[in-house]
Amino acid sequence: MTAKELRQKYLDFFKAKGHAIIPSASLIPDNDPTVLFTTAGMHPLVPYLMGQKHPGGERIASAQKCVRTGDIDEVGDATHHTFFEMLGNWSLGDYFKESAIKMSWEFLTSREWLNLDKNRLAISVFAGDEDAPFDQEAFAIWKSLGVPEKKIAKLPKKNNWWGPAGLTGPCGPDTEMFYWTGDEKETPDSFNDDPANAGWVEIWNDVFMQYNKTANGKYELLKQKNVDTGMGLERILAVMNGFGDNYKTDLFKNLIFKIENLSGKTYDDSPAITKAMRVIADHLKAATFIMGDDKGVAPSNLSQGYVVRRLIRRAIRYGRQLDIKEQSWTKEIAKIVAHDYTEAYPELQKNINWVIEQFNEEEIKFKKTLEQGLREFEKLKPKFSTIPVDSLSPKSGLIEYGLSGDDLFNLYATYGFPIELSLEEIKKIYSNFNAEKGITIPIVELTKDDEERLLHQFYESLKKHQELSRTASAGMFKGGLADASVATVKYHTAAHLLLAALRKVLGDQVVQKGSNITAERLRFDFAHKEKMTDQEKKQVEDLVNQAIKQNLSVACEELALADAKAKGAIGVFAAKYGQRVKVYTIGDSSASSEFPFSREICGGPHVETTGVLGNFKILKEESSSAGIRRIKAILE
Ligand code: ALA
Repeated sequence: MTAKELRQKYLDFFKAKGHAIIPSASLIPDNDPTVLFTTAGMHPLVPYLMGQKHPGGERIASAQKCVRTGDIDEVGDATHHTFFEMLGNWSLGDYFKESAIKMSWEFLTSREWLNLDKNRLAISVFAGDEDAPFDQEAFAIWKSLGVPEKKIAKLPKKNNWWGPAGLTGPCGPDTEMFYWTGDEKETPDSFNDDPANAGWVEIWNDVFMQYNKTANGKYELLKQKNVDTGMGLERILAVMNGFGDNYKTDLFKNLIFKIENLSGKTYDDSPAITKAMRVIADHLKAATFIMGDDKGVAPSNLSQGYVVRRLIRRAIRYGRQLDIKEQSWTKEIAKIVAHDYTEAYPELQKNINWVIEQFNEEEIKFKKTLEQGLREFEKLKPKFSTIPVDSLSPKSGLIEYGLSGDDLFNLYATYGFPIELSLEEIKKIYSNFNAEKGITIPIVELTKDDEERLLHQFYESLKKHQELSRTASAGMFKGGLADASVATVKYHTAAHLLLAALRKVLGDQVVQKGSNITAERLRFDFAHKEKMTDQEKKQVEDLVNQAIKQNLSVACEELALADAKAKGAIGVFAAKYGQRVKVYTIGDSSASSEFPFSREICGGPHVETTGVLGNFKILKEESSSAGIRRIKAILE
């Protein structure tokens, strides 16, 4: 079965069950300061899980592109990815546990749909704790479907609770479906005994979102009971084709083939080669998707840009390990990604030239960095290679004797040598050291404690240098959801005013290329070739402030996409909510005036009138990347 067939099957099934099929949202969240990327299908749906009405109704399904960097260290095994597609179905206050579970089971096992062997499936449900009780209901529903009790494990919050994706937001107990990917004849008849067995692969998660976790850590019942499910397309595709390895599916096959060509090595040659090829395929695919998004982000040292940089550079490092000699090879992978996904995600092909440029530039930059950094790293070696082996007890790290996170920070600050690569270098030196001594059980290694200490020191130095905070680099990798706090909502409305003002001053060719909003400030990227003059900046500022002073109304209406376009609404047309979209109009309460101050397709939320925004001030206007300008602004 191909990815295309499977994606379609899933959507067809849920369509037949009364779900509206919505297109994937952008990978770069619209209005969410606590998260860098869309990490789950539910992400763009948060306002609706919190009670807003969705234009598509109460039953929604989608295939959503997702990026998760929390698992980056696990990439290289057979089933983890940074970029993946999540197939999901949602009930927004409509059906709950019984229908959700029955539909999941039907899709997985019925002959008409996936026809998976019931014996190879197992289930986990939430065991209960002080926050919420054992999910007796889910347990009973599975039993009623004929799943034996031994195949239903009761697991704690760590396993069977999902969300909130950030610090606050919708969450609840979940029930997960596992498939036995080991030898069929060895399928265990119990799942309870050993749910952690690597042969069991989680394929689907049904979350029963009935709680909202608040800022003070409490779990409040949500206004409506929701269902949020997620099935990793890569995993279920591997299962359907009898592969224990996602990289053998058609979502990766061509990429691996190309990497084999580039390196002259074969995927199965050794575990190290397999791992390197997987990391390269995964990371460059993710980088292609992030850069090739309609709100695409270029490699940089900040936020999403830093993640892209890290992904590309890590891939290049593994490429060196495979002896890929060619210069500018990363773009070759990007071309295949864009080609393979051309039907499902046409934006990749549309943006491919820009993406290729970014890959090429980043490769050149990194090559320089790497050469310099490795030379400097050599100079650090005496700090941790003078200790006599005999004095080392197992697990003691050599770095206890001198190397500190400050050293690694200096490498980063002076040569741009990333901390992750420093850590990898240290690990490599240690394993060489052990190998030279003929030692199989490592007597020196980078222990978790050592690593944490180094990272801590590194980030402390970094903070001191105010380049980026730990939250921006590490915390935000994990993903999260916005507090729709009053301040961020104001900034969101300010962003609409800003875009409208920019178009009035600079012309209608100005389009938004991204935004990042926190409770303290607004960052706004837009396509424009030249630096703005002081006069232009002043004009834009004045226009926004006028709109605020006039206390314009902000009106929202739901329209068919074609009508929204006809009314001159701007926004990312292809990427949202299928046929009906929300349109926010600022400046005319009838929302039908031909010339409002601003009219955008947008999910919201927004303030009701602009008067509450205060004074708008542009702090900075600078280049963000080729042809893209960035404005930083605040509301005072
Ligand atoms: N949101 C749930 C997950 O990501 C379905 O697993």
